[in-house]
Amino acid sequence: MKTVLKRIRYELGTVFRLIRRALLRQMPGRLLLHWSDRALLVRIFLQECVRQRQARQSPSIEPTISSWDNKAVLTRSILERHPLWGTQEPFQSNIPGMLTQSEKQYYSYLPKFYQGQGDVVELGPWLGLSTSILIQGLLKNPLFKDRKMFVFDDFVWRASWMGKWLQDEDLDEPPNYGSFLPLFQEQMKEYAEHLSVERQKIADYQGNEELPTLSWSRGRIELLIVDCGRQLHVNEAWYRILSPHFIPDRTMIVMQDWQNFKRVPEVFWENTKIFTDSKGDALDMIHEVDNAGLATFLYRG
Ligand SMILES: C[S@@+](CC[C@H](N)C(=O)[O-])C[C@H]1O[C@@H](n2cnc3c(N)ncnc32)[C@H](O)[C@@H]1O
Repeated sequence: MKTVLKRIRYELGTVFRLIRRALLRQMPGRLLLHWSDRALLVRIFLQECVRQRQARQSPSIEPTISSWDNKAVLTRSILERHPLWGTQEPFQSNIPGMLTQSEKQYYSYLPKFYQGQGDVVELGPWLGLSTSILIQGLLKNPLFKDRKMFVFDDFVWRASWMGKWLQDEDLDEPPNYGSFLPLFQEQMKEYAEHLSVERQKIADYQGNEELPTLSWSRGRIELLIVDCGRQLHVNEAWYRILSPHFIPDRTMIVMQDWQNFKRVPEVFWENTKIFTDSKGDALDMIHEVDNAGLATFLYRG
């Protein structure tokens, strides 16, 4: 009886949370919409309820993935208000960046589950906020001993959308389309010996055309963090190059901005969910982080 009540409370909580989100975050600006547009919003809302419900099925992840100290087991967690990483103290970093507090907690939590079965790769570190948090977590994990984290970016400064993130910082902004690799290196000097940094492009994009294309010849990849664009061709590009090195039932792929498909109205180039859906059962969603944009997938082969 207690379990049934708990289940009902959980389901009701989910519905209320979805309604609150839809009303508070998305609807107010849209109340003057034509009735047909409102009907569309309701349809999107209901579809989203169904999607979240399906994604939550089977919380256990098979085969089991344990933390390096065997104190925790990785479980499925979809937009939970109190996820396991919710109590995680985020690692400190003064590097400017684009992560929410929940994402910092998540990036501090996930490296516990690294098992040393393949490399850790990050695409799109920008100035290194995500990198600095992930590496602090990895360095606490003995299974990362003597390893490096492999970081790729074209390091091309795009003032139109990067500049605003430096507004309150005491840092000189690089010239538009100039390289910001020196700025990254300066920010990351504390962790330089644990990083392998390559200036490569994942796909052609404003000012990176002359750079070499992403390449990988090291073997298996266990953890991949993707924060380098949301368009289909960019995601297809890294997937083509890196997925032959993924380990079935083990490789975790963190997709930043995955939740942007929820934006109303939809933005035509926010294609990350279309990309992951197109991979069918190969990408099994295990985490969707609340108050954040990311989702994580387990590669199933
Ligand atoms: C949103 S920022 C990453 C934010 C960062 N992870 C943080 O913690 O603040 C995206 C990064 O991806 C890089 N990027 C975007 N498109 C790229 C491409 N086609 N090839 C290589 N790097 C790219 C950008 O240079 C930028 O550093």
